[in-house]
This record gives sequence, structure tokens and C-alpha cells, in this order.
Amino acid sequence: MGLNDNNQFILKVSGLKTHFFTSEGVAKAVDGVDFKVKKGEVLGLVGESGCGKSVTALSIMQLVASPPGKIVGGKVEFMGEDLLGLNFQKTRKLRGQKISMIFQDPLTSLNPVLKVGYQLSEVFHYHKGFNWKQSLEESARMLKVTDMPSPEERVKNFPHEMSGGMRQRAMIAMALSCEPDLLIADEPSTALDVTVQAQVLKLMKTLCRERETAVLLITHDMGVVANMCNRVAVMYAGRIVESTDIFTLFKNPAHPYTRGLLRSLPRLGAKRDRLDSIEGQPPQLNRLPAGCAFEPRCEYAKQRCKQEPPGITHLRGEHDVRCYYPIQGANNE
Ligand SMILES: Nc1ncnc2c1ncn2[C@@H]1O[C@H](COP(=O)(O)OP(=O)(O)OP(=O)(O)O)[C@@H](O)[C@H]1O
Ligand SMILES: [Mg+2]
Repeated sequence: MGLNDNNQFILKVSGLKTHFFTSEGVAKAVDGVDFKVKKGEVLGLVGESGCGKSVTALSIMQLVASPPGKIVGGKVEFMGEDLLGLNFQKTRKLRGQKISMIFQDPLTSLNPVLKVGYQLSEVFHYHKGFNWKQSLEESARMLKVTDMPSPEERVKNFPHEMSGGMRQRAMIAMALSCEPDLLIADEPSTALDVTVQAQVLKLMKTLCRERETAVLLITHDMGVVANMCNRVAVMYAGRIVESTDIFTLFKNPAHPYTRGLLRSLPRLGAKRDRLDSIEGQPPQLNRLPAGCAFEPRCEYAKQRCKQEPPGITHLRGEHDVRCYYPIQGANNE
């Protein structure tokens, strides 16, 4: 597990397939997903609702509800180790110590009947071997790091006694207190109002940068992507359709879908008073079209796109796109 090289990948996901077996057929929620995250890097995973972002995250953590879900193919390598081959105990240990996840709704991961300070202290007590008194002090310190107002008092609160922003901070404190090598944050701020959202994201960014934590940040918000990420993987109907660095994504988006997502972003100084969104709906994952999954909504589609799903095309730089007719040139619209 040598990890001396800074550029080495903390997480490598290849060919991941997670399907749901239901009475309506097989929903291919994740259907051959590949991406990598380097140490200290923030990779954004973006796409419309239902494209498989959360199922990807849950698959990495081995938390997919089974049945009906099942990982039917692929590999998840974390610091050189194949996560999908690990037994339950080893997975649990990794989840507590080296990989943390922040869920969209903090109430799903905070225990409602335990004081927040106790829940945080557990991390320090069980994973770091501190005694309970030290653990509680560490918890207050960690809450303070997240800019929680009066942390020494807040450790005595139950989750329901906190505001949404405070709960989110408590969850970030919990996720980062074990100093994970990988943080998976699934829509970590959508439940918050815009100002608090900005604060929480900034905080996450600072803390992760200080510790060189690798982050997989799931969002459907291109504004969040612009502020937070180094690289981006765009997901559509269970597949990554484009991946590139943040500058290329905004300047030269090559997939018509990415272009559509970017068009729906409000822009400062833009003359339009209306936001364009992509027309049509994503396909049902149990009835995917024979060709490219985006073809029915794509303004550039040609006959070939209807026949067979496109493979990956490598463009200049580390820029991959799953399209027969990638858009070339700068996005000057
Ligand atoms: N428990 C389940 N049973 C059956 N199908 C499921 C289940 N969970 C997820 N799916 C399928 O997986 C697809 C992807 O779901 P997922 O939660 O990953 O979407 P998402 O990209 O995270 O969307 P959102 O932005 O709304 O959170 C769903 O559209 C659905 O078809
Ligand atoms: Mg989701």
C-alpha cells in the first residue's frame, strides 16, 4: 500500500455496475462507471436527479440496499486494496477510519437519541483510543474548527436542538474527525439556505485542503462544482459521459449533455432572463435506448447515435467523452 507518490490515486473505480432487480425489470443505476481520485483532489460527480450518483457513492461504501440492489461488476480500489473483496468487518473498519461519508440529510447519520458531543466522542474514543474526557474535549475542538457557535455548549445538545446548518457542521466535524483519506460528500449542502451553504462548502474545502483529503463531491449544482472541484465527472443514465479538469469543463465542454447542464447555470451579466434547461427527461433505467442514452434529447444526434452506445473518446489533455460527435472548440455562447 505504498503511497509516497503525491500523484497516486486514493480511489480507483473501474467498470462498476450496480443494478436493481425489481418487478419492473432491471434498473441499471450504475452501468460501467470509471473514475479516479488523487490525494488532495476534489472530484465532482454531477448529473441530473436519478442518474446514479448516490448509488455510485453507496456502492463504494458497500451500503447499497440489497435486495433489490446488487453490485454486479467492476472494481473499487481504495489505496490499492479491492474494497469489494473485503469482508464486513474490514469494510466497517475502513468506513470508520479511512473513508467518511457525508449524507444529504444529516438526520440520517446523526443518532437522534444521543447527544452530539457523545456521538463525536465515540470517534475519538474508539478509533483514536482517547479516554472519554479527552474525547469530549476533542469533540468541542472539532466543532469549533467547523465554526460552530459556542461549541462547549453545543456538545450537550441533541441533534433536534440544533439548526440545519449546525447539524451539517456537526456531521462534517464527525466525518473529518477520524482524518479520513477519502471523504464522500453526497449533496452536502442542498438542505441549507444559500449563505449557510456557501459557508459549509468553504469550510469543507479548507479542512480537506489542510489535510490533503481526497474528496468525491456529489452535486447537481454546476455553481458548486465551479467553486469546489479540481476535476469533474459528468454522469448520465448510469454512465460517466464526460470527465475533465474544471477549466476545460467550463471552457470546452465536449458532450452535448454537459453543454446543456452548463446552459442551465445563471450567469452574471447574461442578457437572458430565462434559464435554459435541457428539454425532455432522462430515460428510464430499466428501458435504456439501444444507442446513446442521451440521443433522444440531443440536438446533435445523427443516425449512428441511435444504433449503438458510444464508447469513450480521448480528447487533448485528460479529457474523456462518451460521444460519437464531441463538440470541438471553445464555449463562446
Ligand atoms: N432502492 C431502490 N430500488 C430500486 N431502484 C433504485 C433504488 N435506489 C435507486 N434506484 C435506481 O437507481 C437510480 C439512481 O438513483 P440515485 O439515488 O443514485 O440517483 P441520484 O443521481 O443520486 O439522484 P439525486 O440527484 O436525485 O439524488 C434511480 O433512478 C432508480 O432507478
Ligand atoms: Mg442522490
